[in-house]
Amino acid sequence: MLFDPFISSNPLAEGIDVDKIQPDYMLISHGHEDHTADAVRIARQSGCKCIGIWEIHSWLQSNGIENTHPMNIGGSHSFEFGTVKMVSAVHSSSFPDGSYAGNPAGFVIQNSDDCFYYAGDTALHTDMQLISRKFKLKCAFLPIGNNFTMDIYDAIDAARMVGTTTVIGMHFDTFGPIEINHEEAHRAFKTAGIHLHLMKIGDTIDI
Ligand code: NI
Repeated sequence: MLFDPFISSNPLAEGIDVDKIQPDYMLISHGHEDHTADAVRIARQSGCKCIGIWEIHSWLQSNGIENTHPMNIGGSHSFEFGTVKMVSAVHSSSFPDGSYAGNPAGFVIQNSDDCFYYAGDTALHTDMQLISRKFKLKCAFLPIGNNFTMDIYDAIDAARMVGTTTVIGMHFDTFGPIEINHEEAHRAFKTAGIHLHLMKIGDTIDI
C-alpha cells in the first residue's frame, strides 16, 4: 500500500526511483501537491487500485486512471487486504491547479492482524476520539511538523485520543516551516509514554 506519493518533486526523496514503485493499492488523503505529485504516474505504471474521496477519484479518472475506488467521510469498504474507513481531517484540499479536491480525509485500516490510523494532513480535532471507540490501533501515522498541521504536542494529544502508544511521525522537515527539533520531539513523546518513530526517507521499520 502506498500513501500520498510525493517523491519526484521532493528534494529529500532524490534517492527513490519512482519508476520502481509498484504498489497494489494507493490511498490519497487530499489533493495538495505534496500528497499527489506522483499519483497519476504510479497509478499508470502499476495499475494499482487508487482509494480516495469522490473528487480524488474523479480527478484520477479524468487523468486516464480507471482502477479507482471512490469513498467519502464516514464510509468504510472491504478490500482484499482488509477494511478501510475514511475519517475526517481538518485541513484544506485542492489540486495543484487550484481545482476542488473534496474534503481532506484520513484512513483507518483494519484486518484480523493489524489496525492503524493514517491521519493525512490534519489539525487536532475531537472527532479523533471516535476512532478509539471503534478500533484498537496498533499504531498511528500522525503529522507533527506544525504550521500546516498538528505539532508534536497536538500529536501527543491525538495519540491519546485515538488510543495508541506508537506513533510514526509524518509531514516534518520537508520545507523550512515544518522543520522540527528531533530531540525535543523524542523527549516530549517519551515523557508522554508514547513511542515516536521518525523515519528517514527509504527507511523500513517493523512495528
Ligand atoms: Ni495538505
